[in-house]
Amino acid sequence: MNKASVSERIALIARNSSEGATCAPELNDGPWVFDAQPPAYGPGASMGDVIPVGTPRQGALPDEYKSASNDELHERIRAAKATLGERLVILGHFYQRDEIVQHADYLGDSFQLATAAKKHTEAEAIVFCGVHFMAETADILSAPNQSVILPNLAAGCSMADMADADSVEACWEQLTAIYGTEPDADGRVPVIPVTYMNSSAALKAFCGRNGGIVCTSSNAAVVLEWAFERGQRVLFFPDQHLGRNTAKAMGVPLEQMPLWMSHKPLGGNTESELHDARVILWNGFCSVHKRFTVDQIAQARVDYPGVRVIVHPECPMPVVDAADESGSTDYIRRAVEGATEPTVFAIGTEVNMVQRLAADHPEHTIFCLDPVVCPCSTMYRIHPGYLAWVLERLVAGEVVNRIIVDDDTAEYARVALERMLAAKPA
Ligand code: 13P
Ligand code: SF4
Repeated sequence: MNKASVSERIALIARNSSEGATCAPELNDGPWVFDAQPPAYGPGASMGDVIPVGTPRQGALPDEYKSASNDELHERIRAAKATLGERLVILGHFYQRDEIVQHADYLGDSFQLATAAKKHTEAEAIVFCGVHFMAETADILSAPNQSVILPNLAAGCSMADMADADSVEACWEQLTAIYGTEPDADGRVPVIPVTYMNSSAALKAFCGRNGGIVCTSSNAAVVLEWAFERGQRVLFFPDQHLGRNTAKAMGVPLEQMPLWMSHKPLGGNTESELHDARVILWNGFCSVHKRFTVDQIAQARVDYPGVRVIVHPECPMPVVDAADESGSTDYIRRAVEGATEPTVFAIGTEVNMVQRLAADHPEHTIFCLDPVVCPCSTMYRIHPGYLAWVLERLVAGEVVNRIIVDDDTAEYARVALERMLAAKPA
């Protein structure tokens, strides 16, 4: 299997030194090329999504970090880490490039990294190599004296940006007008809001204020059970696919899962459809996971009879149905690590993680279902140049790119997050 990192593969393809295709030639440029441009998610999956106004923008990265070789950047990162010692903890999501992962103290999925942020009270600075909503969560769960730093402020999440607080409030008002607020004979309120971790702190606070909860892809079923114990229905945002796939596996019929399109009155539904609803799904999606198709799975089964197909539950329902298994990033990691016989795995999740699993497990054949190299645009905006910059500023006594959630938002978001942390993955 290919031992090159995704960035190295992209560079080889750009030089015509390797076969294969990328979804955007600009992937080979430094992410800072896009900092100066009008707000955009950058090249890669999700580059076509509409970026909201007011999205955080990354200021210019000093030239020395743009021109340094990777070897020099790695050396500088290691030196800064050694100087900072226990004052620093670096968290890295599974979707980060290898060039970042090698410096992470903890690598994990969004649930594990939220837990790690809460636990490491000794560190003055938590450098979060992930995306904006993850850094916000770390700020909410960490101690007040700790600073959470996102190396590139443009590392957002296009799915999280598909649900804004005003649209969710407007939806809630309409639902409350239809359902009222009185509990039924079993004490269950008409509707419980559930937000996926991939959402702004404002939406987590909305859930905290309205009897709701946060979930991640690793505990979505446990969280939905929690919600159904307390409510007759769930309003699930922003990811329709995670909501639909999870509720369907729990036996909720598709007819009772209307889609809420925020630009339409009643989300495009009738009152009677909303009365019958068990899960109201926000119209959001992940552009990385939307790239996976039933045809790719069929092709993998032709190419490798007996292949084990595992996809992330952010994939559309037909893809999840056609796969052998679906689960969070950590589920996928454990499935590969737990396979005792040499196995062929076709995986439907972000390419950096899949390629790393392939390199770490030469006993298996592991490949990404999507043959085109197309990383998550925003995860990919964390480059060693930014990591070196934020760490060297810390050594100099300056905190740059700090993510701060205001106290009021943090207080209610923490309520919904603590409920989630108690709902451990099954
Ligand atoms: P996990 O919750 O599995 O870490 O996934 C986060 C994410 O952004 C997936 O696209
Ligand atoms: Fe967001 Fe999708 Fe990227 Fe995850 S993979 S951070 S959901 S855009």
